[in-house]
Amino acid sequence: MAEQSVLLIVGGGIAAYKALELVRLLRKAGIGVRCILTRAGAQFVTPLSLSALSENKVFADLFSLTDEAEMGHIELSRASDLVVVAPATADLMAKAAHGQADDLASTTLLATDKRVLMAPAMNVRMWLHPATQRNLATLKSDGVLLVGPDEGAMACGEFGPGRMAEPEVIFAAIQAALAGPAARPLAGKRALVTAGPTLEPIDPVRFLSNRSSGKQGYAIAEALAQLGAEVVLVSGPTALPAPVGVSRVEVETAQEMLVASQSALPVDVAVLVAAVADWRPTQPAARKIKKFGAAPAPITLVENPDILATLSAQGPMRPQLVIGFAAETNDLDHNSQAKLARKGCDWVVANDVSQEGVMGGDSNTVSILSRDGVERWETADKGAVARRLAAKIAETIH
Ligand code: CTP
Repeated sequence: MAEQSVLLIVGGGIAAYKALELVRLLRKAGIGVRCILTRAGAQFVTPLSLSALSENKVFADLFSLTDEAEMGHIELSRASDLVVVAPATADLMAKAAHGQADDLASTTLLATDKRVLMAPAMNVRMWLHPATQRNLATLKSDGVLLVGPDEGAMACGEFGPGRMAEPEVIFAAIQAALAGPAARPLAGKRALVTAGPTLEPIDPVRFLSNRSSGKQGYAIAEALAQLGAEVVLVSGPTALPAPVGVSRVEVETAQEMLVASQSALPVDVAVLVAAVADWRPTQPAARKIKKFGAAPAPITLVENPDILATLSAQGPMRPQLVIGFAAETNDLDHNSQAKLARKGCDWVVANDVSQEGVMGGDSNTVSILSRDGVERWETADKGAVARRLAAKIAETIH
């Protein structure tokens, strides 16, 4: 197959320095890169660095007769599989939304018939301004793909959404866009994944919880996103970063997890991997329970809501496919079939936790139970189990 290639438009923002790393990642993956550097972009990075990293000439001026003779603005986008704008400044977004064409970057965006991926980067108030939000809506309805922006501390000293997505994240979005529709069978579908433990307070400093690491749930969220699904990951406390392209909602208790999961509806598929605490302290103490001066008080418990059973019985909002997990140490098939019936879900992914190292470990041995029977999968790392499950989900929902 011929080398795939990207036309990268580097706009004028402090985030332009991250475009250099993006070019490096693309070249390392064997993807060809041609760069257009806007006049403002050239205030932040030099044509020399971009051309050294991209191993290509950098284009800058619309009216350069030599450039037009070598490779004009039409030819630049024709020779690429995808046009990427990173950083996409408020100005570039406004120009693209309105079809203005007064420099090489904006003219190329108007002249292209290739897909366009933008990574916005700007001050938080510029991002939140109604004008930018209007332009964003226009660009989305024109089919422009977007990655980011992130929320966080910004170079201007403010905090909020507007920071350009990290180069690795933009790179993953480029790979997904280049892969095309066949590699994204879940495009247009929505998925909910719960993951991690829940944490049930006893008093302001103590809690009941479990050893779930969240690894399997996070891997499933990532695998679904890679197949094109829009994924909401409702996660209990874990040490893991949010997977690329997934929107994470962080919760602590089972009750919060239920509310966040229901707020994510409607979804086409729900994969409930979280190790939800079955019980919580009835009345968490408002103040720290003291050791001295009192006999150890028993902790009374009350049952938590069952998120899996609730979503399986959600009426018209019920996802087309509801998948639960079962951790068993014995009578795996019998217990999992009983769980399937009791909770009203469509599949149970049963894992044998009798061997050491599954909880918190990197590999998993699972069986998929449905009303039609059992499929046994050989032991694989959690990423491979997740990709296989995501592929099976993609075959099943339509
Ligand atoms: N689950 C849930 N809400 C709960 C409890 C469990 O959504 N309050 C989900 C889990 O995310 C998982 C499945 O139900 O998908 C596990 O069911 P559960 O009955 O908790 O399984 P085990 O912990 O294996 O239970 P048991 O003690 O009955 O073996």
